[in-house]
Amino acid sequence: MSETKKTDAADAVVPQQAVAPEDRADSAKGSGDREVLLRVQGLKKHFPIRKGVLQRQVAAVKAVDGIDFEVRKGETLGVVGESGCGKSTMGRVITRLQDPTGGTIEFEGQDITSLSVGKMRPLRRDIQMIFQDPYGSLNPRHTIGSIVSAPFRLQGVAPEGGVKKEVQRLLELVGLSPEHYNRYPHEFSGGQRQRIGIARALALKPKLVVADEPVSALDVSIQAQVVNLMDDLQSELGLTYVIIAHDLSVVRHVSDRIAVMYLGKIVELADRTSLYEAPMHPYTKALMSAVPVPDPKRRGAKSERILLKGDVPSPIAPPSGCRFHTRCWKATEICKTTEPPLLELKPGQQVACHHPENAADQAPQDTVLLSAAREAVELVIPAQSSPQESEASKEASEPEAAEPVVAKAAAEEEAPAEAEAEAEGADDAAEAETEAEEGDASAETEAHEAEASADAEAAEVDASVEAETEAAEVDASVEAEAKSDAAEADRQESTDK
Ligand SMILES: Nc1ncnc2c1ncn2[C@@H]1O[C@H](COP(=O)(O)OP(=O)(O)O)[C@@H](O)[C@H]1O
Ligand code: SF4
Ligand SMILES: [Mg+2]
Repeated sequence: MSETKKTDAADAVVPQQAVAPEDRADSAKGSGDREVLLRVQGLKKHFPIRKGVLQRQVAAVKAVDGIDFEVRKGETLGVVGESGCGKSTMGRVITRLQDPTGGTIEFEGQDITSLSVGKMRPLRRDIQMIFQDPYGSLNPRHTIGSIVSAPFRLQGVAPEGGVKKEVQRLLELVGLSPEHYNRYPHEFSGGQRQRIGIARALALKPKLVVADEPVSALDVSIQAQVVNLMDDLQSELGLTYVIIAHDLSVVRHVSDRIAVMYLGKIVELADRTSLYEAPMHPYTKALMSAVPVPDPKRRGAKSERILLKGDVPSPIAPPSGCRFHTRCWKATEICKTTEPPLLELKPGQQVACHHPENAADQAPQDTVLLSAAREAVELVIPAQSSPQESEASKEASEPEAAEPVVAKAAAEEEAPAEAEAEAEGADDAAEAETEAEEGDASAETEAHEAEASADAEAAEVDASVEAETEAAEVDASVEAEAKSDAAEADRQESTDK
């Protein structure tokens, strides 16, 4: 797409509806007047694809491709989108576990975009990450006490009353028992392990916590407990969160604002109420229509289902113009040729779309639907349909063939790269180096098995005593093997660092 065209079109169609950028900070509802803790501008992360003997770069995975947002002190920013749209990469880049390809990251007014590992070290106290996988993110050969106290050792912090006492206090804070201090991760259920991960992340009283799908790997019955725990800790400790999820139902209750990502871009960023009551981006609308509505008062109005067809296109060669145009039922010519800028179309609601929902059309002159748009959606049963939607629904085919977009996202596997990066961030190489190295084995698998049964039984965190006893029996054999597996993980971490 040509730059000239993009600029012309943007200028031509949006000026009267858009709110000037300088007015934005004041206009957002709720958290709008709070101080900015993190500011991200034009952030990009491209992973090069290399080929041949010379390893020449032939293409790049544009995982994050130019995003802007702010996180304000004390707020929770939810980030949602289908699997593969760049959420985890964004999380790892803003916490500087990965280096950005472009753009800037400011934390408390300081530009941290290209700080060296050494210069970032003191900031690690303030910026913490909680990972998706409570199985892989805790070192199986370390005791809970050692895991949760690691941040104190690494940062050379001596809490009042000693490290042990502080760790036991933290364990209590996250709903575990101080007696768990000498136990090993495999003795705990998934929900408990995630609590341990949270205790570790909170050890140094961070200012910003980035939680990457913190409950996705957990049993549904435990998800709410962990989300509620995070919510309680936020009020208690004045934390600021970025919570990443593929499922709107997770971030719905805890977020002040929500950013919706699609193929490396933010397509809508709004406060929770606006987003839920009147989503403006067609993709947000599709994500929302796949989420069950728990509020009986709203259920009547919620008869529509928008079921997107097809897979998310490749981030190696994203579609031209609006990246969503290959799956959008409203796409017109301008959508194919011109990337819509992210503009504040309503106070506190930024949207990147030429034909937004619930707002004035940004390209009213462009009315002819692309043929792809007619096929993009399998079924649309709008409660109050716009002319374009009605047309799309006429084209609709069998509903039973359709699959909700959110459900599809949930079923997708995480990229293997993520597991590695999680292990990398979860523990610190400095500590890993001091550990002895022994063989290799299947301790983690066994621990997982023990945990799988424990997890199922211990739906209630407090009801886990039985599971622990069971798991402890497996302990003897597991522990020997655990040592070797951990050594492998440690070596990996050291190399990565
Ligand atoms: N280290 C990596 N090397 C190459 N590609 C990667 C790497 N990490 C992530 N990706 C790719 O970047 C895209 C975004 O991935 P990710 O950030 O994990 O998405 P999400 O968390 O939204 O599922 C995916 O296509 C993924 O395959
Ligand atoms: S209407 Fe156009 S700009 Fe808006 S989401 Fe659909 S394809 Fe993108
Ligand atoms: Mg992810």
